[in-house]
Amino acid sequence: MGATWRKRLNEIWESSWLCSEQLEKRLIVRSLAEARPYVSGDLLDVGCGHKPYAALFATQVRRHIGLDYPPTVDQHMTVGYRAPQVDIYGDGTALPLRDAAVDTVLCTQVLEHCAEPGAVMAEIARVLKPGGHLVLTAPQEWGLHQEPHDYYRFTRYGLQHLAEAHGLRIEYVTARGGFWAMMGQRWSAYLYDNYARPFRRRGQRLLFLLAAAFVLPASALTQLLSLGLDRLQPLPMNTLGHILVATKPETARDAVS
Ligand SMILES: C[S@@+](CC[C@H](N)C(=O)[O-])C[C@H]1O[C@@H](n2cnc3c(N)ncnc32)[C@H](O)[C@@H]1O
Repeated sequence: MGATWRKRLNEIWESSWLCSEQLEKRLIVRSLAEARPYVSGDLLDVGCGHKPYAALFATQVRRHIGLDYPPTVDQHMTVGYRAPQVDIYGDGTALPLRDAAVDTVLCTQVLEHCAEPGAVMAEIARVLKPGGHLVLTAPQEWGLHQEPHDYYRFTRYGLQHLAEAHGLRIEYVTARGGFWAMMGQRWSAYLYDNYARPFRRRGQRLLFLLAAAFVLPASALTQLLSLGLDRLQPLPMNTLGHILVATKPETARDAVS
């Protein structure tokens, strides 16, 4: 199969419910779409990876600047046909930008990979213009990934504390789904990671296809069912994670109002 076809098939698979992490992806996209009113001007995407949300904000930003950290982006984000979309290489704990340089900072599923998340938050606050906004997502519940660079999980209070400790004013912190979505997503990932992915990793194509014929529909069904249950009974105490939207105050007095 040609590279273009393989890329196309991967794209179709990644946007379908057969993909074992579809629920997490869709809940992140939905939360980011709701945060659109806070996104404008020059946007710095800290830990951008493949810039998966560039299209979501394309019509409302002047520039979408992707920043990523060489040790981790090279090790974990250069997979298959996908290449990272990095404009600037740097470390979230020492951003190579002047003070008050950008209108928006986007930071999705990055903070758990930073050994010093407080230092990253301090840098985000520094490079934001007064009146600028931070849109950040982070997991509360997810399996180990990108090891050994996987240090933390965050509750809503942890995220709020980090942002406020660095002078940002919280607009809102919202759970991305509740107990049922979390259970369905974890179960779906468990099925794929344990009963299909190992064959793919070992290059055992026939065994992978056989396993996938059972695992993928089960995974899709689990995710759709849990999404339905989540809508019927929202229980945000146990969630996959949160979105936090915060503002850099114009003046110190605004910080507490
Ligand atoms: C789970 S990926 C998320 C990528 C992308 N933001 C997304 O939502 O798909 C974590 C990203 O954080 C980056 N990262 C890890 N440590 C970092 C640091 N100290 N500074 C900036 N980026 C970092 C990794 O290279 C990786 O691209």
